[in-house]
Amino acid sequence: MRPRVLVTLGIFPELLAQLRTQFEVEDNQTDRVLSPAELVRRLGDKDGALITGYDRIDASLLETCPRLKAACNLAVGYNNMDLPACTAHGVIATNTPDVLNDTTADLAFALLLAAARRITEAERWLRAGHWEGWRNDQMLGQDVHHATLGIVGMGQIGRAIARRAHGFDMRIIYHNRGRAPVELERALGARRVELDELLGTADFVCLALPYSPETHHLIDARRLGLMKANAILVNVGRGGLVDDAALVEALRTRRIAGAGLDVYEGEPALHAGFLALDNVALTPHIGSATRATRMQMGAVAAENLTAALSGRRPPNLLNPEVWEHRRR
Ligand code: DGY
Repeated sequence: MRPRVLVTLGIFPELLAQLRTQFEVEDNQTDRVLSPAELVRRLGDKDGALITGYDRIDASLLETCPRLKAACNLAVGYNNMDLPACTAHGVIATNTPDVLNDTTADLAFALLLAAARRITEAERWLRAGHWEGWRNDQMLGQDVHHATLGIVGMGQIGRAIARRAHGFDMRIIYHNRGRAPVELERALGARRVELDELLGTADFVCLALPYSPETHHLIDARRLGLMKANAILVNVGRGGLVDDAALVEALRTRRIAGAGLDVYEGEPALHAGFLALDNVALTPHIGSATRATRMQMGAVAAENLTAALSGRRPPNLLNPEVWEHRRR
């Protein structure tokens, strides 16, 4: 019998057709986010799963899925998966790194520019019929070129953002656990600094790091208080990195000048305060959302799933211990 697979999200028809050539596939082309109870019910008799960041894979779920061998995220972020629990249950966990770096960096820059040049605000104003002609002091924004960008999280996406910033003649500082390669620092003129120093120095602060219990509310009221009054915060990492209530307050009181956000605490819900503010550009978690990139992410996720269910080591294995254990 062919392995049984659950696909918890709507995927491109050609990818679904490809999966059907190898697996008995239960799909969810309606794209409705499955409740935890429904996930438990539908995963109970499956060998594998292709999932999104909204599907929580933890010990209590895994206890009810005795057949499950692989959970493959269609996302680079994997904070929805409890990796030690996956390993303890012999479940392979995978993600889709690399293929979305440039696309996500493009969106980070789009948000940075939108917030700096008040693009979404200006468009709303124009569409509302307020424009009566060119004015010297109309919709004045901030220069991006030659400003200082602070990147928090200098992984592959952070580096792609830095390359774009270099093209805008920005000064680049970054904060990361480890140092980026010296050649990269040299090529981009980037300098590693402590987080608080970055916040106090940068005109633009861009978050491009994963969420974990250690990074929960990394940017809280105290750290927002360190930022410059003209500063703009961009988040393309994950909701939960920022204390959204504190950010709403900092934007409302103009403690900082603006923000560009693609991810939110508790999304798809978002803090109502954001909707009432003009100095924040908002997008609905579309960092990797181009057709080409989502095709690549789908192909990577499918390859991980196929490998895991046919006894090959998946290219993007997140919990290698599980593999070592299987080989013993
Ligand atoms: C990712 O790949 O992690 C994106 O944020 C989509 O969840």
